[in-house]
Amino acid sequence: MTEIAIIGGSGFSRLKSLQITRKEVIHTPYGEASAPLMHGLLAGVPVVFLPRHGPGHTIPPHKINYRANIWALKSIEVCNVISVAAVGGITGNMEPGVLAVPDQIIDYTYGRHQTFFENDLTKVTHIDFTRPYCEAVRQALIQGAQKSAQQVQTHATYGAVQGPRLETAMEIHRMEQDGCDLVGMTGMPEAALAREFGLCYATLALVVNWAAGKSPGEISLQEIEANLEEGMLCVHRLMEQAVPILGQNQ
Ligand code: HPA
Repeated sequence: MTEIAIIGGSGFSRLKSLQITRKEVIHTPYGEASAPLMHGLLAGVPVVFLPRHGPGHTIPPHKINYRANIWALKSIEVCNVISVAAVGGITGNMEPGVLAVPDQIIDYTYGRHQTFFENDLTKVTHIDFTRPYCEAVRQALIQGAQKSAQQVQTHATYGAVQGPRLETAMEIHRMEQDGCDLVGMTGMPEAALAREFGLCYATLALVVNWAAGKSPGEISLQEIEANLEEGMLCVHRLMEQAVPILGQNQ
C-alpha cells in the first residue's frame, strides 16, 4: 500500500529524485486521470506521483480532471497528498523564489466539477472546510523546510483563479483586499475533493512571479520559467526531507 501521493504541478511533471518502480493506469467513474500513477521510492519511502498537467504538460488548469485524479489516489488507498504548485506572489513577503505552505484558500474558479457529492445521493452531503489544508501534511512540509535549511512562509491564503490567462492588475488588487497572498490556477477544486474523500492534503507553493501589477511592467514568461527551474531544486530538497517525516507518522 502506498500511502503518500505527490501531485506535481508546472515544472514538476517529473520527480527526478523518484525511482519509478511501476506505472498504473486507473479507470475512474469520472474518466481518465491526468496520467498513469507512477509508483516509486522517494528518499527510501514508497510514494505515488501524479503529474497534474499530464506527463508532457499538455492539460491546462481548467481542463484538469480533478475528480478523476483524486478518485484514482483514493482507489489505491492513499492517505496523504502533497500538492506542489507554482504560484504568483501578491503580498510583500511573497517575492519570486519564496516557498510557502498556505493555510487558507479563497476560491474564484468557476465551471469546474467541484464535488463528488452531486448525483445519486442518498443524503445531501456537506464537508467542513474551515481549515482547508491538513495540518499533519502542512507540518511535515514545514519541518522539511527546516531540515533542508530553507525558509518557508507558513501562513498564506491561496487565491484559486480560473485561468488560463493571468490576471489584470485590478483583479490582483481586489484579491489582495480579499486577503489573498498567493494566486494560482489549480488549488481548487483539488483541495475540496481531497477533503470530501477524507485525504490529508496540503500544498507546497513556489512563487515564480510577482502577480499582475505587483512589479513594474508586464509579467515575463521567461522569468517565470527561470524562477521555476531554480525554485524546483529547492522544492526537491524540501521534499526529500518532508516525505520521510510523513512516512514516519504512518
Ligand atoms: N497567476 C495565476 N496563476 C499563476 C501565476 C499568476 O501570476 N503564476 C503562477 N501561476
